[in-house]
Amino acid sequence: ENESSVSITVVGASGDLAKKKIFPALFALYYEDCLPKHFTIYGYARSKMTDAELRNMVSKTLTCRIDKRENCSEKMDQFLKRCFYHSGQYDSEDNFSQLDKKLKKHEGGRVSNRLFYLSIPPNIFTEAVKCASLSASSYNGWTRVIVEKPFGRDSESSAALTKTLKQYLAEDQIFRIDHYLGKELVENLSVLWFANLIFEPLWSRRYIRNVQLIFSEDFGTEGRGGYFDNYGIIRDIMQNHLLQILALFAMETPVSLDAEDIRNEKVKVLRSMRPLRLEDVVVGQYKSRSRGGVTYPSYTDDKTVPKDSLTPTFAAAALFIDNARWDGVPFLMKAGKALHDRRAEIRVQFRHVPGNLYNRNFGTDLDRATNELVIRVQPGEAIFLKINNKVPGLGMRLDRSNLNLHYAARYSKEIPDAYERLLLDAIEGERRLFIRSDELDAAWALFTPVLAELEEKKIIPESYPYGSRGPVGAHYLAARYNVRWGDLDIEQ
Ligand code: BG6
Repeated sequence: ENESSVSITVVGASGDLAKKKIFPALFALYYEDCLPKHFTIYGYARSKMTDAELRNMVSKTLTCRIDKRENCSEKMDQFLKRCFYHSGQYDSEDNFSQLDKKLKKHEGGRVSNRLFYLSIPPNIFTEAVKCASLSASSYNGWTRVIVEKPFGRDSESSAALTKTLKQYLAEDQIFRIDHYLGKELVENLSVLWFANLIFEPLWSRRYIRNVQLIFSEDFGTEGRGGYFDNYGIIRDIMQNHLLQILALFAMETPVSLDAEDIRNEKVKVLRSMRPLRLEDVVVGQYKSRSRGGVTYPSYTDDKTVPKDSLTPTFAAAALFIDNARWDGVPFLMKAGKALHDRRAEIRVQFRHVPGNLYNRNFGTDLDRATNELVIRVQPGEAIFLKINNKVPGLGMRLDRSNLNLHYAARYSKEIPDAYERLLLDAIEGERRLFIRSDELDAAWALFTPVLAELEEKKIIPESYPYGSRGPVGAHYLAARYNVRWGDLDIEQ
């Protein structure tokens, strides 16, 4: 083991993702002693830069965990010494062979394992894969490539991309990232229900009334309009992040914790989904609003977005899984930009207690007399269960109170960023949290027809003011299935 080396090449090293997520995650892994002994990091991009300039750029992005301030700057220096830069075109085999020579030098005759992180726009994806694979693959160890969405924009383009990638890479060399799978509470989903007797028997249509998957951001697409306008919120968030959560939530017990066993179960869920109909989808787009002397822009105020763009920045959808466990249970998704809060959560609303003895003690709001489990992915990771409880006192009045598990209070450890876990898994060859190509196909199969219909019929998104709760259509959609969207809980 000591005799092997790992080289990590960040292709697109000066991009946003590299600076915000990849280098900081690599440093955090280094700090935690999780990187192999012999590792080298290369930044690869078109601009001319020296190693020193790259180090300077990277150093500005690094931070230390609050609980680990000691030795931090020393560790940073050591880390930066292992970072290098190679300037090259993304479609030049020559430039990748030059990189190959440099990597060989660092590997010093050890077994060479190579990880390429493609942090570049989709139009140059396949060229870069081709060049890296033909000219800079490892000759005696593994070569793996991490790719990040967009994986096409519909079934057809995604299949074409997979086909091209597979000309140069085997499926087990491709690590498709969905960074939501690296989030602590998403990983905990399976633990929650496969390792707790009090949840496991309840996880079905018998006791669950509906499940809500909510993603909201309190900022718009500022600065990313160019990318976003070609994709929209359904492709940006629902088809991947929310659908992945749904699959993990709804899957049957896998044979084991092996990557293939888990992904087999997820695919089954995705393939059991009822085709999504246009009438079960609501789309919205945010409009400018002035508040407290500040004017917040419209989506179309972005210079890179066409004035008449119909791209949704908000969407809600009602989905169903046509299998025995989930028959008839609505899975409602809601995702939006420029809303009034920032949160990602899963809400499970349970059925009413049959013959509820205490109905009248709730007053008029009978709908509240159910249990609800909330898994808050972010911010402020938490799991809480709403239970009905007697308000202390001589009378008999009930209210809903929370059984709380707030991560910050329970665990003093800071939670690692999703990219740390995923990078570590890719280095270790653990594929559990990466998307297999059949999963990707099934995910596109679900959304492609509706996306096409939205575009063909030029469906006009409902407008909603920047910073609001989103279009009212989402409430009507939920109401059609007897669902009330869970609101942000006051205690954070
Ligand atoms: C990305 C989307 O995948 O996820 C962005 O492209 C979104 O639009 C981001 O802002 C949200 O990720 P996180 O980890 O900040 O919740």
